[in-house]
Formats: sequence, structure tokens, C-alpha cells
Amino acid sequence: MKLKNISLLATLALTATGLGAADKPVLDAKMKAAVDKMIAVSFPAGENQDLSRLKQDETIQTCNIYRDNVPEKLAAEITARETKSIKYPADGKLMGDWKKGQKYYTMGFAYRIGTVEPDDPKKDRGGNCYACHAAEPKEVAYGTIGPGLTGYGKLRGAGDDIVKYTYEKIYNSQAFTACSQMPRLGHNGILTPEKIADITAFLVSPESPVNK
Ligand code: HEC
Repeated sequence: MKLKNISLLATLALTATGLGAADKPVLDAKMKAAVDKMIAVSFPAGENQDLSRLKQDETIQTCNIYRDNVPEKLAAEITARETKSIKYPADGKLMGDWKKGQKYYTMGFAYRIGTVEPDDPKKDRGGNCYACHAAEPKEVAYGTIGPGLTGYGKLRGAGDDIVKYTYEKIYNSQAFTACSQMPRLGHNGILTPEKIADITAFLVSPESPVNK
């Protein structure tokens, strides 16, 4: 079978299991405690290790106990709460500098924790977007957990609504999709509003190599 067909089948299988979200949590209290313990012992404290992100907020806890398949009512609560968390750059401009955006889209230092060589907390951080999304046609090393974003602005245009959606999606993916696999990069403090505006320009601007 061709690779394309296999991934299509996998998508269909995922969609099928996602049809009727469980109305009860999938993880019971005992299992949840075991998982929390495993996470705690897996990331030992050490120099330059910022373990604050191991603390699960209400949204992550809800997603975890439902294995990301939350009932509709909880999904609506999550998207409403996450939407409220979105902050904007001080100058109000959601389209920054695409060249800087190119750098931050690519930079792999995205606040890793628990690695053998932890990130220097004082170091400039990027979004590590290529880990999950294609973008510039010339880039060959990218992950496919997220949809490919090559030609993003060419396909959708650069209207205010697209710019706003793109900025907000990067700031907090769960404002749109409850329990998304995409990190909430602004919400978690990995990217500043200004960097998110730069990345928005990298995706949307007609000048950006993403759209050439
Ligand atoms: C761990 C994987 C992962 C990382 C890292 C990640 N994303 Fe995503 N992204 C996803 C997934 C999965 C989706 C689709 C589900 C959703 O919409 O939430 C998505 C959706 C999107 C969308 C919406 C696409 C559409 O068709 O509307 C945009 C835009 C996007 N990501 C941009 C980014 C940018 C920019 C970065 C880096 C700052 C980034 N993502 C980092 C996984 C990721």
C-alpha cells in the first residue's frame, strides 16, 4: 500500500474513534495519580531546569483525563477560557517582520525541559514550528504532526481576519481547538506577543518565502 493511503487510513481510524467523545473521564483517579507520579519522577530538577511547566493547568488536566477527547460542553468551556487568555503586542500590530518571524519559526530552542542539555533560560527562544509543520518550500526537515503551512498566505490572503486568526492560533491553539496537540506558545510564555506577530508575518506576508 502506498504511504499516502496508509496515512489516509490512519486518519479515518482516528476520526472513527473520535466520533462520540466519552462522557466520563477515561483516566480514573488512581490512574491519574500514577501518571502524575511518573511525570514528576521523569523530569529531575537540575541546573537550568525550569520545571514550572510540569504543573498542569485546568485545561491540560481536563484534556488528560479524557485523553484529549472531551465532551462538547467541556470543549466549549476550554475554547472560551483559552480565548480570554490571549494578549496582543503593545503597539497593536499583529503583522510584524517576516524575516524575524522566519528565525523564530525555525529556532529549535522552544523551552525544552528535562533534556540532557537544558536550554539556557536567558537564551533567545523560538517556536520550533518545523518540528510539526512544513513552511518554506526549500526546507526539507520538518515534522507532520500539524498540517503543512507552505503557501499559507497565498491560499488564504492577507486580510485582517486571516492575520488575527493566525496570531491568535499561535498565541493559544486551544482558543480554537480544545485539546489541540499544538503547544499554546504565547499562553505558556514560550513566545512573546511581538515574536508571534513576526511569525504571523512569516506565514501571511506575500513577501515571505512561505508564499513564493
Ligand atoms: C507539537 C506539534 C506542533 C507544534 C510545535 C506547532 N504546531 Fe501548529 N498545529 C499543530 C497541529 C496538530 C495543528 C492542527 C490542530 C489544530 O488546529 O489545533 C496545528 C495547527 C496550526 C495552525 C492552523 C492551521 C490552519 O489550517 O488553520 C497554524 C497557523 C499553526 N499550527 C502554526 C504553528 C506555528 C507558527 C508554530 C510555531 C510557533 C506551530 N504551529 C507549532 C501542531 C503543532
